Amino acid sequence: MEHTKQIVIQTGAPLHPLGDLFGIFFEDLNHAADGGLYAELVQNRSFEYCSVDNPDYHALTAWEKVEEGGAADLSIQTADPFCEKNPHYLRLSVPRLGGSAGIKNLGYHGGMTFWSGEEYRFTCYARCPEGGAVSLHVSLRDSGGSVLAEDRLQVSGGWRKYRLILAPAQSALHGSLALTMEEGTVELDFISLFPPTYKGRENGLRIDLAEKLAALKPRFMRFPGGCLVHDGTLDQEARDSQYRWKNSIGPVEFRPAKRNSWGYNQTLGLGYYEYFLFCEDIGAKPLPVLPGGYDPHHHRAAEGDALQEYIQDALDLIEFANGSSDTTWGRKRAEMGHLDPFGLEYIGIGNEEVGQEFFDRYPLFHKAIRERYPEIKIIGTSGPFAAGKEYDRGWASAREQGADLVDEHYYQSPEWFIAHHDRYQEFPRGPKVFVGEYASHDNAWFNALAEASYMIGLQNCPESVGLACYAPLLCNVDYENWKPDMIWFDQARVMLTPNYYVQKLFMNHQGDTQLKQTITGGGPDTLLCGEPDSLPGEVVLAVNQSEMLFTDIEVLDGQGQTVYSAPSLRLGHVCGERSLCRVESKNYTVRLKAKELEGFKGFLVKFGQSHEKNGLYWKLGGWANEDSMLGQTHNGLDSVLTQQTLRVEKERTYQLEIQVQGMEVKTLLDGTPNVKTKVRPVLAKPVYAASSRDDVSGEVIVKLVNLLPKQQEVLISLGGTAQGEWLGTLYQMAGYSKQQRNSLDAPDVIRDAQPLPVTLPEGTLGVMLPPESVCVLRAGQVKAV
Ligand code: AHR
Repeated sequence: MEHTKQIVIQTGAPLHPLGDLFGIFFEDLNHAADGGLYAELVQNRSFEYCSVDNPDYHALTAWEKVEEGGAADLSIQTADPFCEKNPHYLRLSVPRLGGSAGIKNLGYHGGMTFWSGEEYRFTCYARCPEGGAVSLHVSLRDSGGSVLAEDRLQVSGGWRKYRLILAPAQSALHGSLALTMEEGTVELDFISLFPPTYKGRENGLRIDLAEKLAALKPRFMRFPGGCLVHDGTLDQEARDSQYRWKNSIGPVEFRPAKRNSWGYNQTLGLGYYEYFLFCEDIGAKPLPVLPGGYDPHHHRAAEGDALQEYIQDALDLIEFANGSSDTTWGRKRAEMGHLDPFGLEYIGIGNEEVGQEFFDRYPLFHKAIRERYPEIKIIGTSGPFAAGKEYDRGWASAREQGADLVDEHYYQSPEWFIAHHDRYQEFPRGPKVFVGEYASHDNAWFNALAEASYMIGLQNCPESVGLACYAPLLCNVDYENWKPDMIWFDQARVMLTPNYYVQKLFMNHQGDTQLKQTITGGGPDTLLCGEPDSLPGEVVLAVNQSEMLFTDIEVLDGQGQTVYSAPSLRLGHVCGERSLCRVESKNYTVRLKAKELEGFKGFLVKFGQSHEKNGLYWKLGGWANEDSMLGQTHNGLDSVLTQQTLRVEKERTYQLEIQVQGMEVKTLLDGTPNVKTKVRPVLAKPVYAASSRDDVSGEVIVKLVNLLPKQQEVLISLGGTAQGEWLGTLYQMAGYSKQQRNSLDAPDVIRDAQPLPVTLPEGTLGVMLPPESVCVLRAGQVKAV
């Protein structure tokens, strides 16, 4: 039987402020900054690429010779550079042969895109080492080498900046920037080409990408990472140092191009000043994350003065953002062109750090910031997973110190998001949750839908959840480090994902204050997959880049009867996985001993495998042999249910036991209780709803998600003081199948929410929610009772 769901919203009963709930997270991975949002078209503009950034890089990466009847001799020099921090530059010599020769740069995509009618700003530093002068021909070319725009520079004397404006007569998708000459020797550095930029800024951002981010109307922006923040050496002068914000401000030529931990080079051209400026431009509060003097990937920990320097960096950053121009760092901001403070309210210390070294250091940052800037909200971190010992350790530290928020990260299956929709409902009070990174593993409509239902849960818990942002944000299709991502792009095109459109809907219509809502008549929850109360399935042993000896293996059912036993089993390079048996009972126990004979990581005990892509596992020695995880896969997509650090040692015998009782899983390691967790059934509610008010316009906003493959009738009634006539708009994302997605070639399969004008006489509206849909009603009262 179908049920009509009724949602009564007490428009006169404001509950809690929603604050800055929904925002964005920008990390320079997937070439999101250089070759992405940062509009610079030239790759390796200052010839600084080197093998520290990426084993394949060298000073001439992305540059090619051009020889048109002439010959070019290229050499990289470092003597007397115009900038010591970027010491490499190019010497180009062309003997007089009758033709011309030089270099060209293809940008980040094996080709730069030029649009006719646009102006391109070329700059470079140049000098003539042998005296005299050279005439340098600068041109924009298409993929066949035809010149689209050209001009000449007369270079003479010592290092000097040269400028040109080039306006191509025709567009080209895979063009290049070429610098050629007929004869002479010239030295070149910092060769730059900018298209028109967002808000016309000189060192600016790519317009199409910036506009897509602005259209989200995020309340905040977290930056610049991510792992980018903490992965690196501790010396800020080092080529492979952690991201230190002071390197990223000041004249752009003097910012040291460095290794980006995602395997490429970062110019820092999009640096802290530009991040703050962009936040201001799009009305998002800046939320910088700083390293906490510890690199958890390589276990490097700053001590003494070096640690003090990190703490001072945090204080100085706040001064840079908020100090008056009389202060040291406020003056630097003013000198860069922004006299007024940026109004920084939040600061994050650490990005998913685990390890005692971090928790020894975090309190020092916290105390220093609190004492000097009590108004700043300080954000701690709870590691890279949704639960487990490290997660608990992060929260305990944040609570002990009195952090304002705690940054949680998780990337899980859509089913996990559905099953954990109410994760924060009974959450202990204290620091608020900042879901600083989350995404379900894919960019199909089902992922966006699951995320929408989860975001309803986030919005409905404003007492525990302060901030939330999807991650990662941007991916250059030619340089994928991580997926899914919210926005994909190449040199000319931008592809918005269903996840983007859901985020946009929630950010555009966040509202300021939670309103009381009552949902009745919904009927029971629907099981979307799996079993509601048990975890039956196969038991499987598997190696993870290792050679393992398993002994004393036994699987017992709930009555203690042996379902399987074997004295020993060796798995490794020849056979990496073996199914032992299938268990149908609700309760069962798996016991075994495991010894790693050879290898780098560890092994897995899989259980409750209802299908090769669906089931649970206990993985020991996961990631870089650093973790022990209890996890679950749905359709091959992974969710970590709980995690703790653990390194599998070679030749050591581990004694393992897994006890399954219904949905409860307990593990014992070497006879000691290890982990206890309850697996949640994947149940969909009849309807998900969250109600809020826009405090400025007085409009009421109701977000609705239907996860089920059938339409749902919902009667919305704006109760309380809200009768009378209401007019509004119903925004709908509907009509898609779960696996539909956008691509660069077909970017509009899933589109922005469609608006439909609606009238609510007496403040009521019947809505037929389409199957698997997301809707937002936004309505304002036009006539009171
Ligand atoms: O968002 C991608 C990465 O995921 C981030 O750099 C890191 O914080 C997380 O592990």
